[in-house]
Amino acid sequence: MARPTLLVLSILLLVPYQAKSRFSPKTGGGLPLLEKGEEVLAGEEGAEAQRQRRRAECEGRWIHIRDLPPRFNTDLLRSCNAFPLYDDGDFCPYLANHGLGPRTHNRSRSWYRTDPHMLEPFFHRRLLEYPCLTPDPARADAVFLPYYASLDSLPFLYNPALFNSSALHGRDLADLLRRDSPAVSARRGGHDHFLVLARPAWDYSQEPDADPPLWGTSFLHLPDFLNVTVLALEARPWPWQERAVPHPTSFHPATLARLDAWLARARRARRTTLMLFAGGGGGGAPNIRGSIRAECENRTDLCEVVDCSDGSCAHDPIRFMRPMLRSSFCLQPPGDTPTRRSTFDGILAGCIPVFFEEIGARAQYGWHLPKDRFEEFSVFIPKEEVVFGGVRIGDVLESIPPAEVRRMRERVLELAPRVMYRRHGSSAGLRARKDAVDLAIDGVLRTVRHRVRALEDGDPDLLIYDDDGDDHHHHHHLS
Ligand SMILES: *[C@@H]1O[C@H](CO)[C@@H](O)[C@H](O)[C@H]1NC(C)=O
Ligand SMILES: *[C@@H]1O[C@H](CO)[C@@H](O)[C@H](O)[C@H]1NC(C)=O
Ligand SMILES: *[C@@H]1O[C@H](CO)[C@@H](O)[C@H](O)[C@H]1NC(C)=O
Ligand SMILES: *[C@@H]1O[C@H](CO)[C@@H](O)[C@H](O)[C@H]1NC(C)=O
Repeated sequence: MARPTLLVLSILLLVPYQAKSRFSPKTGGGLPLLEKGEEVLAGEEGAEAQRQRRRAECEGRWIHIRDLPPRFNTDLLRSCNAFPLYDDGDFCPYLANHGLGPRTHNRSRSWYRTDPHMLEPFFHRRLLEYPCLTPDPARADAVFLPYYASLDSLPFLYNPALFNSSALHGRDLADLLRRDSPAVSARRGGHDHFLVLARPAWDYSQEPDADPPLWGTSFLHLPDFLNVTVLALEARPWPWQERAVPHPTSFHPATLARLDAWLARARRARRTTLMLFAGGGGGGAPNIRGSIRAECENRTDLCEVVDCSDGSCAHDPIRFMRPMLRSSFCLQPPGDTPTRRSTFDGILAGCIPVFFEEIGARAQYGWHLPKDRFEEFSVFIPKEEVVFGGVRIGDVLESIPPAEVRRMRERVLELAPRVMYRRHGSSAGLRARKDAVDLAIDGVLRTVRHRVRALEDGDPDLLIYDDDGDDHHHHHHLS
């Protein structure tokens, strides 16, 4: 297994590494394609039998990765020190391990200091090991654009000289797709294309002619990408081209044993605190974070606050994961935007999420967290009732019988594997479980299938399609 090591090194050092393989389709940005499965099986099975088995498994699931010039992906990683994104500097340290970030400490195997922007490179890395890749775009059921869209947007978001040019974000890619093999996107009007955007869609939905310019770019308004399925960390509340995928956490196990060991630990954990809030904010006018802080200051016997002001928790999971293991409920109020990474940290810790807005999760993550089963694993308290209605969160949560709390926690831990991002190159045992990437790919393929059918039928409601993974309920294993 010398090759994966070499591969890791070559990508860390950004040295082009040529995969010498019989079968080496282009994979976008010069990254090599792993075909481990094929090599291992080649000796045991006849070539023809193997091709047939693969064809059957991959029926309706073929993905082609567009070969984009490196300026759209790997080159963007080189300018990791161009923007002081964080108080502690640039994002260069978080490129390690294909974007999972450095390990939290030397002996940790599954925990990393993961930065959310790195979802773009590590999703790309995961697709490179997807078993049904095809070099032929005309045979593909879906086409992946390995564009690191949020990394490419950073100059427009953080360089004041470019604020007025933010309508340019993505134009270069749009031009390329029109010029270079235009037949690929023309085949289905772009409806079979998808890409990843590792920030909330809000940051990319500025009206192109806004004057004065507001926050963000107009990437999602570019006509060239209106038909493309965009996997974002947070979607706008009305059906549009983006779909939300879970915020990445710091937990990226590589084997089933490590996943199960962690889940067993979360199941066993002694929960001594009723509720926990890990976050910052809450100042100014009356708001839900302010109410949570006031209530917790009053009830230190049942509420714990982990102060994450100024991004102090962003790359330091130890600060909040231990407290989350001690608490029965994790409060997930909206902040600058409705969704939060903490929701997924809490789910991994078996800490039952308490939501205050539908748009905080239920209206977002239908592919990963079944919309119609939220009552089984989460608590909902409308924020107005807390801020203006005198409802105390502690009273609501204390009134839930212990047996019900245990049942909910069990549901939370059943869902945990669906929202985590396992490490690339994971064991076969772990690969057999669907993680956040697998479920996103399933969702994309369902969406594309639906759209292609609508396209063939001339259905005008093509873009208005709100799929919640209904045809996949048998995979939820919730009961
Ligand atoms: C962790 O590993 C690095 C590099 O191998 C080494 O320099 C450092 O001393 C180690 N730290 C600890 C606490 O062992
Ligand atoms: C998007 O889809 C619509 C409807 O199928 C089509 O008319 C339009 O040309 C497509 N846009 C692009 C950029 O292909
Ligand atoms: C951006 O445009 C606004 C008007 O829309 C103008 O006042 C401002 O000076 C411009 N900023 C730069 C950096 O060009
Ligand atoms: C704090 O406790 C006092 C005394 O029990 C109570 O009157 C007050 O309403 C409480 N405040 C909050 C925010 O719960």
